[in-house]
Amino acid sequence: MRESRSRGEMGNRSIQFILARKENRFLGDGPMKENLPSQIKQWDPALYDRKHSFVWKYGEEVIGLLAPQQGERILDLGCGTGHLTQRIALSGARVTGLDRSAQMIEQARAAYPNIEFVLADAANFEFPQPFDGVFSNAALHWMKPPEPVAASIARCLRPGGRLIAEFGAKGNLKAIHAAIKRALDAMGLPADEEANLRYYPSIAEYAGILEANRLEVTYAKIFDRPTPLEEGENGLRNWLRTFGGNDVARLSPAERSEFETRVADQLRLTLYRDGTWFADYRRIRIVAIRE
Ligand SMILES: C[S@@+](CC[C@H](N)C(=O)[O-])C[C@H]1O[C@@H](n2cnc3c(N)ncnc32)[C@H](O)[C@@H]1O
Repeated sequence: MRESRSRGEMGNRSIQFILARKENRFLGDGPMKENLPSQIKQWDPALYDRKHSFVWKYGEEVIGLLAPQQGERILDLGCGTGHLTQRIALSGARVTGLDRSAQMIEQARAAYPNIEFVLADAANFEFPQPFDGVFSNAALHWMKPPEPVAASIARCLRPGGRLIAEFGAKGNLKAIHAAIKRALDAMGLPADEEANLRYYPSIAEYAGILEANRLEVTYAKIFDRPTPLEEGENGLRNWLRTFGGNDVARLSPAERSEFETRVADQLRLTLYRDGTWFADYRRIRIVAIRE
């Protein structure tokens, strides 16, 4: 029932089908050496949940900013494995999670069967009823170009409805990304193609995009958030395996080991303290109201 209801609410079924097929091809296979489409980031929901719970745990603070109310309709955009969607539902709001990764949606549905999760692209979706709020944590920086996503957000909000979002800001992970690039260069491997997928804007840049889409920015902040990675010495390696990019997933075990050592050697002085790795996250937090 849930499956057919969710599908009925989806906008473009053919795009969703193509995406689901593309992503399902890799489901459960672990990193593959060939056929990984570099234009779409691949997610491993099990690894994401096991080692990177900090992503959604930091997002709990952003739910405070959303302040969901009983009965409100809220959309969690780029909901991933659904932990924050579930936290929002605890408020009594009627929440829907949306994500374009079939694997993430599958895991979210298994963990929270009473919540509606929809497989769709944030750049191209429609719902029959408007939402009171759109919430998004750690996801908008994967949604490039940002303009169609802002247009979809505006389209799905009622006038007076709110967007509450936190994601990577200009300068996010600067040291780690530079180390990845240098390690790949030194090994004679192709450049980090996924760099082209990431969108880390300044406040002025992103506010301009929202305002061009009838979303008036009422609050915006950029801040450094050095983030401790779990599992001591292994923290950086785990991070690289989830967030290091499709190019890293393509490496052979021997190449990967050399790559990880090269990245760690460059960063140890600045990002490793007292047995813990810290990722140099920098976030933008933004609130906008639909005109
Ligand atoms: C780092 S995860 C964050 C998940 C969740 N919001 C959390 O806080 O744990 C980013 C999510 O954005 C999703 N995503 C990326 N691009 C997307 C797009 N164009 N449309 C919908 N979801 C997208 C990914 O599939 C992934 O699940």
